[in-house]
This record gives sequence, C-alpha cells and structure tokens, in this order.
Amino acid sequence: MKVVGFVGSPRKGGNTDRLVEEILAGARDAEHQAEKLYLCDYDLTPIDPVYGEDTNWTDSRQDVADQLIDRMVAADAVVLGTPVYWFSVSGLLKLFIDRWSLYQRGDERLRDLMPGKKLVVALALADANDNYIEDVLAPLRYAAKWLKMPWAGEVVATGVSDPGEVEQRPDLLANARALGQSL
Ligand SMILES: Cc1cc2nc3c(=O)[nH]c(=O)nc-3n(C[C@H](O)[C@H](O)[C@H](O)COP(=O)(O)O)c2cc1C
Repeated sequence: MKVVGFVGSPRKGGNTDRLVEEILAGARDAEHQAEKLYLCDYDLTPIDPVYGEDTNWTDSRQDVADQLIDRMVAADAVVLGTPVYWFSVSGLLKLFIDRWSLYQRGDERLRDLMPGKKLVVALALADANDNYIEDVLAPLRYAAKWLKMPWAGEVVATGVSDPGEVEQRPDLLANARALGQSL
C-alpha cells in the first residue's frame, strides 16, 4: 500500500510536519510505502472559477496542482496535515483542496479513483482549548464524504506553538504513529 502525506504548513520541521512524519513512520512500520510532500514547495494559486464556465475551461496554473493530485491518486491513503490558522485550515491546504474542483468537470482521477482511499488528518494548534476542533475538521470531513474517502482518523495536537514543540508530547506522537500503523 502507498501512503502520501501533504504538509500544509509553510514551516518545514514544524509541528504539522512532525505529526505527518510520525504518521508516515507508522505506515512504514506496517510495511507500506510512504512519501511526504510539502505544499509550500509548489506554487499553488487560487483556482479560476470552475462552476458554470464553458466546457473549454482551462487554468494555466492547474498543472502545478495536477502534479500533487497525480501523487494523491497514485496512493491508497492520504494524510493531510495543517496548522490551525484563524480557526480554520491553512490557506496553503485550502489552495490545494480548491484545486480538487476538477471533480466538478468529471475529472476521472478525482471522480473514479479517489473513492475508497483512506483519509487521515493531522492538526496542530497553539490553543490549549480544543472546543472548535470539530469546526476545523468539518470541511475536511465533508470533502472526504464528497470524494467517498473513508475517514481513517485524526491526530490533533493542541497547545503547540513553537516549531517542534510537539516533540515534548510523546503521547501525541505515539497516537500519530499508531494511526499510521493502522492504515
Ligand atoms: C497565521 C496564523 C494563524 C494562527 N491561528 C491560530 C488559531 O486560530 N488557533 C490556534 O490555536 N493557533 C493558531 N496559530 C498557531 C499555530 O496553529 C501553531 O503555532 C501551530 O503549532 C503551527 O504549526 P506548524 O509548526 O506546523 O507551523 C496561528 C498561527 C499563524 C501563523
């Protein structure tokens, strides 16, 4: 089985990165192939409108997202990692998810090949209070449902702010590893 992890934080080596890495390490423990991609390495731009446009819709920048979508489609499980920014997912992750809108144009990769792939989510946030986490997860849960991707679980690191602070939370890292092993 192949697992691909997308890091939606611009901070390499940060908390999100570490959580995604630990999930992927767990997947490797279970003899799966795992790769990690940093969304910040790709020049993702806001998508041109897809809805209601003529059949010749093109967006010259879709090719950047297509490289990532192709990697996602080639995998059996997808890990999306994001810091919480303003009570939501990062803009970087949202730019990527918006690019999945080719689904609306019948893109076979998204329409036919995504169903059945597992989705795992990793969240990092500074707030120790987690009473809005479900609101952050909600759009990801809806997206998973839309693409018919079974939700395989989430790891939520509350109270982490400085880069690598999650390192001081062995319980969370153990949960992340176990989640990866369960894929
Ligand atoms: C633009 C921005 C917005 C943020 N908004 C929130 C927030 O709404 N709630 C919160 O708890 N932390 C917020 N944070 C803190 C980050 O979620 C936290 O530092 C996290 O550990 C960063 O993950 P990273 O190390 O992977 O970048 C914000 C940080 C930034 C830079």
